[in-house]
Amino acid sequence: MIADRNFLSPDLVADPYPYLHALRAEDPVHWSGPHQAWILTRYDDVESAFLDERLSAARVRSLLPAEPSADDRQTFDAIYRLLGNWMVFTDNPDHSRLRRLARAAFTGRMVERLRPTIEAIVDGLITEIERERHVDFVSRFAFPLPATVIAKLIGVPEEDLGRFQHWSQDVSTLVFGGYGGAGRRERAVRGLLALERYFRALLDRRQREPADDLLSELARAEEKGDVLSADEVIATCALLLFAGHETTANLLSTGFLHLDRHPHERRWLAENPALASRAVEELLRFDGPTKLQVRMATQDMELRGKRVGAGQRVLLYQSAANRDPQRFLEPDRLDLGRSFDEHLAFGIGIHYCLGAPLARLEAEIAFRALVERLPELHVDPGDIEWHATISSRGLATLAVSV
Ligand code: HEM
Repeated sequence: MIADRNFLSPDLVADPYPYLHALRAEDPVHWSGPHQAWILTRYDDVESAFLDERLSAARVRSLLPAEPSADDRQTFDAIYRLLGNWMVFTDNPDHSRLRRLARAAFTGRMVERLRPTIEAIVDGLITEIERERHVDFVSRFAFPLPATVIAKLIGVPEEDLGRFQHWSQDVSTLVFGGYGGAGRRERAVRGLLALERYFRALLDRRQREPADDLLSELARAEEKGDVLSADEVIATCALLLFAGHETTANLLSTGFLHLDRHPHERRWLAENPALASRAVEELLRFDGPTKLQVRMATQDMELRGKRVGAGQRVLLYQSAANRDPQRFLEPDRLDLGRSFDEHLAFGIGIHYCLGAPLARLEAEIAFRALVERLPELHVDPGDIEWHATISSRGLATLAVSV
């Protein structure tokens, strides 16, 4: 019998892969006591679960205790009201309505128009690293790049970006399932309310003075009144801002750590810069920013002979699927030139990551520029500090030097 482990224990936060291999081999549909959820680890099972309409993405209630005390009820109602309009937590028909309007801004063609902007931001950040020589890669490169890009795209003034970092950290311990202690949900509510207040005021401003940004476009749609309510526009902006930088920042910092640990692969990238987009796919597969997605069973069902009950949680373990030896040859080897089979880092099905073209472009430009312009940049010796969360994978800090 495979041991029942808590994914927040420090060894699994640092390296979940050996345990995930054991789960996949011995009990691929595993009931986890510590997480009160079914855990799927085989590629085929995770892929089918993403596409299974019996598994609902409306999971906000599962972030909260089933029977809150009277004191907690107000906090939980606020969380439910604010996160309930995030498209990623809805099923159809609401989901397709929420996704439709934002979709146009994230097509490959629209995103490609951002290339010069992204290149200029990367250039500026690299110049600062060159000048200072010793920096924290997370706060000086991985975080500001996607945050600046998504803020520009939505229409958030750049000077407000610092405030978002705090709000989104408050939200992430809840959404990604971290420790955060007793005040975790209260902090999340504070962050969500601050985001809501901020976007309500900005939406108001854009309705009076439209600009060339996504918020103005959403504001026009809201005025027509038939597509999105003001609350939904605000929720969509908060989601895009949150999803648009947390995950990409994690891809950039984890990706750089792996380039540093695999000098042979790094050399390959430096010699084949035109293949940077392929390298990004492999970094996403090898150690991507989202470890798993949560779904709720809406009816009793059977998965590989196990009976999953209506109302139970199911964890679709993407990072286990992406290392499944049935699907990928030598899955534990980082091979930037790997000829590619589809990984599940962006999910699949109706919730497939809306921002995937943007994340891919940012990472391609960033890694290419890093290996070309900073060939000597390396991670300083010392301990690596991972974020202790269930569903996301990322570094808290990463000291680097030129
Ligand atoms: C490397 C970076 C990223 C990764 C690994 C990632 C991963 C994911 C995954 C796995 C999902 C599916 C969630 C589910 O099935 O429940 C998702 C959804 C989503 N992502 Fe990303 N994401 C990234 C970057 C971005 C960016 C840059 C944006 C926005 C600009 C973004 C916006 C979204 C949105 C709006 C959804 C919800 C889509 C829906 O429910 O239809 N993501 N992302």
